[in-house]
Amino acid sequence: MEKVYIAPSALSADFGKAAEQFKLLEESGIKYLHLDVMDGIFVPNISFGQVVIKSLRPHTHMVFDVHLMITEPERYIDDFVKAGSDYITIHYEATKDPAAVLDMIRARGVKAGVSVKPGTPAEVLLPLIDHADMFLVMTVEPGFGGQRFMADMMPKLEALRKAIDQSGKDIILSVDGGVDPVTAPVAVKAGARLLVAGSSVFKGDIQGNIKALEKAIG
Ligand code: DX5
Ligand code: ZN
Repeated sequence: MEKVYIAPSALSADFGKAAEQFKLLEESGIKYLHLDVMDGIFVPNISFGQVVIKSLRPHTHMVFDVHLMITEPERYIDDFVKAGSDYITIHYEATKDPAAVLDMIRARGVKAGVSVKPGTPAEVLLPLIDHADMFLVMTVEPGFGGQRFMADMMPKLEALRKAIDQSGKDIILSVDGGVDPVTAPVAVKAGARLLVAGSSVFKGDIQGNIKALEKAIG
């Protein structure tokens, strides 16, 4: 099996101590940092944007996995490229032509991801298999950290795992929402290889939490 990675979600970090906390992540061997951008329209919450991402960029070597929960993300791709994103993930539901936006991201030398909300079926992603480097399955309604993992999303991960394997493409299958030491192995069993985890990493002892997650996924 492909290696499983944890992507801590900066949404749950303490931004006053971001550099310090990112150092702890790196010391624990973390490779991906998930950055949640929310516009208060696509989701009922506002987080941070390209200015914050750009200011975080010099403080870590981690791969920036930017999750855009914004309407018509095509308006801001250039900004998030310039801010230093390594992956930019858009929402299938947020734009009229997801394939075109994925192509736009790739044309700028950045990896392109596409995510589905819990109510959107996995099948909509299948025609995008030639346009994407990452599929992201939401296991909570996007907008907030600390929600409960929706185990009924596992058939979506399983269907996408199968499609990716059959295609032979190098697409990362990621899962986001409510991932903790109990739910992480469930998501991995269903096919996820990049586990986004916010509150279960940043609440309390960061390095201890990462160890607990790693132990749970074996
Ligand atoms: C939710 C975000 C998530 C969030 C996850 O809309 O996309 O990345 O930070 O937080 P937890 O792990 O606490 O569910
Ligand atoms: Zn996210």
